[in-house]
Amino acid sequence: MEINTVGVIGLGYIGLPTAAILASKDVKVTGVDVRPSTVEAVNRGDVPFVEPDLATYVSGAVQQGTLRATTTPEPADAFILAVPTPFADDHEPDLSYIEAAMRAVAPVLRGGELVILESTSPPEATRKMAQWLLDERPDLSLDGADGRPVVHVAHCPERVLPGRVMIELVTNDRVVGGLTPEAAEHAKALYEVFCQGEILTTDATTAEMVKLAENSFRDVNIAFANELSLIADKVGVDVWELIQLANRHPRVNILQPGPGVGGHCIAVDPWFLVDAAPDQARLIRSAREVNDSKPEWVVQKVLDAVEGIENPTIAALGLSFKKDIDDLRESPAVEIVAKIADHCPSGAVLAVEPHIDALPPVLANRRNVTLRTIDAALGEADVTVALVDHSSFRSGLANVAVGHSVIDTRGILG
Ligand SMILES: NC(=O)c1ccc[n+]([C@@H]2O[C@H](COP(=O)([O-])OP(=O)(O)OC[C@H]3O[C@@H](n4cnc5c(N)ncnc54)[C@H](O)[C@@H]3O)[C@@H](O)[C@H]2O)c1
Repeated sequence: MEINTVGVIGLGYIGLPTAAILASKDVKVTGVDVRPSTVEAVNRGDVPFVEPDLATYVSGAVQQGTLRATTTPEPADAFILAVPTPFADDHEPDLSYIEAAMRAVAPVLRGGELVILESTSPPEATRKMAQWLLDERPDLSLDGADGRPVVHVAHCPERVLPGRVMIELVTNDRVVGGLTPEAAEHAKALYEVFCQGEILTTDATTAEMVKLAENSFRDVNIAFANELSLIADKVGVDVWELIQLANRHPRVNILQPGPGVGGHCIAVDPWFLVDAAPDQARLIRSAREVNDSKPEWVVQKVLDAVEGIENPTIAALGLSFKKDIDDLRESPAVEIVAKIADHCPSGAVLAVEPHIDALPPVLANRRNVTLRTIDAALGEADVTVALVDHSSFRSGLANVAVGHSVIDTRGILG
């Protein structure tokens, strides 16, 4: 099949880079987002979030006329759905964004198109998405049954690292799973337009599981490091030195502990496996619980450090879920700052996050939390808690006054 036009549904951290890189290869891309402010920003050539080099791609493609954004889907040869897949309160996957996006695309299909689900999804989500398509369009089919025109449906999970998306989109290997082998081959051909990594084909459910297994692997290994950090603290050992020395073993590679695990992927995706097989996914569930309990431990460390100080001032370095990005989603740092503020109503929490201009509502609503520069915060604070290892923090922290208590959850001080 020839693919000259692509509709990318969801212009967030994944959809917009994918749209922009396809457009840079002279594919005509229509980006679709339900948020009018996102659509307006893209049509101006702007990027509504921080991702290195993305702005250059977006403004270039908009100027060339290969990228345009709109709020409603339009006909195209292929569609890529990159909408959120959060979980509900009980950790059950919430597929409502995929359903809404698929039902919005269905009316513009003519038959013969390729539809790719890129959102990280629980097992069988691609098949459910295809069923929503067929509910809307019983005149179409997935395999040509009864002579109805075919729509090829595939899943291709995204594994890029925020902060390196424009590089990794090109260099990473990809796994493409089709509901039919033909769908997988068509999807592979589309990614070959910009991807220089190897593109490996399989079935859709295996592709769904591959992404979930990758992130669960990371989560379990981070949980091991986080658990070690609690044990090391209890027995009075420096966990950073401990890990550095243990990693000199030729077959040991322990990850780094932190204040918890955040973001839209590692803190979320393992729950999709737990939901799919609750009785079997025991280790994966425990790892989630270990990582989810770490913020509370950090809060307690801060409360211990300010004990006896009347109206304490606490500097909290970093709010994003990882270094050098502005993404605050599921960030343990935000949770920790909110909890410290609530535990110290007469104190002040000075949050330092160089990648944002305003506090997120959950912190802005607390009158004792303000956003500061690192120098201002360190100058005023009684106690500092380092929550994110942004590159700029290392030199800032190096100047911290002797005797100033620092709780370093990221090993910034070395
Ligand atoms: N951010 C990452 O690093 C990353 C990495 C790998 C995989 N993923 C996965 O990619 C998917 C998208 O994540 P993201 O980080 O890009 O999310 P995001 O929240 O940044 O972007 C999603 C976009 O979809 C839009 N949207 C929601 N419903 C829509 C609809 N019905 N039609 C059109 N637009 C709609 C939203 O307005 C938003 O702009 C998720 O499944 C996520 O797990 C994300």
